[in-house]
Amino acid sequence: MDLYHLIYQSQALGEFGEAELAALLRRGRTHNQDANISGVLLHTTDGRFLQVLEGPKTAVRHLYYHLILSDTRHFHCQVISEGSCDRRSFAGWAMGCRLAQLADLRTLLGEAPADDLGLTHRPYPRPQLLALLEGFVAQGPVETGQAHALDSQPTRHY
Ligand SMILES: Cc1cc2nc3c(=O)[nH]c(=O)nc-3n(C[C@H](O)[C@H](O)[C@H](O)COP(=O)(O)O)c2cc1C
Repeated sequence: MDLYHLIYQSQALGEFGEAELAALLRRGRTHNQDANISGVLLHTTDGRFLQVLEGPKTAVRHLYYHLILSDTRHFHCQVISEGSCDRRSFAGWAMGCRLAQLADLRTLLGEAPADDLGLTHRPYPRPQLLALLEGFVAQGPVETGQAHALDSQPTRHY
């Protein structure tokens, strides 16, 4: 299989409470499982999202570029990284979900206060970003829904 992953961030448009999140996860998990997609969604209480999608290239790109990108529940969608990969980082989770603090996202994304050159964003290269994400997700409770088998070895977070 042509394994691919895509990481993006976005901002919720308006109120995004527990009920909205639960509905999103329910629908997303069903679709992702059917499409052989795994990954994790980080969200903050003020509505920032960071999601990792991994699976067959066509399925991942279709999900992001045709569905998620045009979803009116969020905006400012920005791809952080995408490309082919050798293994899944979140195998076994159709859509893991983890609450994060804004500071956590800033750290993961390499965001820093403006320096003399006015630079505020130094994104990590993909392997480093994924390692940071795996480490962050492993540190706290992840809501995974029902576990299911996908086509690769589970990682240590399974
Ligand atoms: C932050 C965010 C993350 C999402 N992640 C997924 C996802 O992983 N899988 C999925 O199927 N839909 C996801 N969605 C929902 C899609 O954008 C879209 O609403 C859904 O695929 C449409 O399904 P439907 O046509 O069956 O209603 C996400 C939406 C948002 C706002």
